[in-house]
Amino acid sequence: MQEKRTNVKDQVLYVLESRKGEDVSGRRMADMIGVSRTAIWKAVRSLQEMGYVIEAGTNRGYCLSVYNDILSESGIRANFDDECKDLPIHIYDSLESTNKTAMQLALEDTPSGTIVIADAQTSGRGRIKRSFFSPKGAGVYFSILIRPNFQKGKPTLIMTAVCVAVCMAIEKLYKDLTPGIKWINDVFINGKKICGILTDGLVNFETGEVDFLIIGIGINFKNPVSGFPAELERIATSLGAVSPDSMVSRNELIAEIVNQLKKIIADIHDKDFLAEYRKRSLLFNKRIIIRRKDKTIRATALDIDNAGGLLVRLDDGRTQLIYNTEVSIQAAQ
Ligand code: BTN
Repeated sequence: MQEKRTNVKDQVLYVLESRKGEDVSGRRMADMIGVSRTAIWKAVRSLQEMGYVIEAGTNRGYCLSVYNDILSESGIRANFDDECKDLPIHIYDSLESTNKTAMQLALEDTPSGTIVIADAQTSGRGRIKRSFFSPKGAGVYFSILIRPNFQKGKPTLIMTAVCVAVCMAIEKLYKDLTPGIKWINDVFINGKKICGILTDGLVNFETGEVDFLIIGIGINFKNPVSGFPAELERIATSLGAVSPDSMVSRNELIAEIVNQLKKIIADIHDKDFLAEYRKRSLLFNKRIIIRRKDKTIRATALDIDNAGGLLVRLDDGRTQLIYNTEVSIQAAQ
C-alpha cells in the first residue's frame, strides 16, 4: 500500500481501481488496509454515493465496474509504474487552464513531476493563442511540471518526446488504434486531431537554462454531449468515437502517458524516441504551408532532425530547419 493514502475510502478505491472489473473480497481488503470489514463496507457505500458503480454480493466481495470514469488520485496511482508512484497529483473539478495553475505552482517551488488535472477548463489554451475546447468529462486535460537540467533550445525535443509518449500510451491501451503525429505536437487518428500539446515555461536568460517547463496535454476522450463546435467538427475526433468498444478510463490514460513520458525523459539524451516519432510522422514528403508572423511559405517536409526540428525543402530548392513554427498540410489541388 502507498503510505500517503491515509483515508480508508481512498485506500479502498485504490485497491478496487487496481483490480477493476474483478471481485475483491471484503476480508482481503480489510486485511490489506488494516481495518474492519465494516469499515470497508462503509467506504464502499460512500464511494457508491459519489457515483462509483461497485457491485457487491455475499461470497463475491466488491467489484468496480470497468465503465467507471471518475477522475481520482487513487485511480491514477493504481495504474502508475513504480517509477511514478511519488509524483504529486492535484485534481480539480474545473480550472481556467491546467497550464495556468501548474505555472502558479511552479513559481511556488512545487517539485518537478507535479501533475495538475481538471475535469473541465473554462479557458483552455491552445498554441498560437488559440483556445482549447475543454467541456466537462469529455476530455483529458492535464499539465506536468518538469524542472529539466538542460540548456535553452531543448524544449522542442521535449515536445516531440511528449508526442511519442501520448502515442505509445494510446496504442498500449487501445489495441485497435495507430496514432500519427503532425509536427510538432498534434496527435491524429484517422486523419483527425485527437490531442494537442502546449508547452509553457520559464527560461533564465542569464544562464540560458530552462527553469521549468509546463507540458499541457489535451485529449478528446469522448465526443462532447452537445457535439464539437462547428469549427472543430471537420478536423477533430475523440478516442471514444474511433474506438467505441473501449473501456479505458481517463485515469488509466493519464497514468499511462505519465509512465511512458517518465521512461522517455529518463533517456532523452539517447534520442531513441525520435525513431518512433519519425515512424509516426504524417508530414514526410507532403507539401506543407509554414506560417510565420507576416508571411506563409510553401515547402516539402523531409525529416525531423535530432533536436526535434523539421527539415524542409523550400520551393527554391534550399533546405531549412524550422523550430516552433505552425505548419499545415497543403490541401491537394
Ligand atoms: C493545441 O492543440 O494547440 C494545444 C492544446 C493544449 C491543450 C491542453 S489541455 C491541458 C493544458 N491546459 C491548457 O490550457 N492547454 C493545455
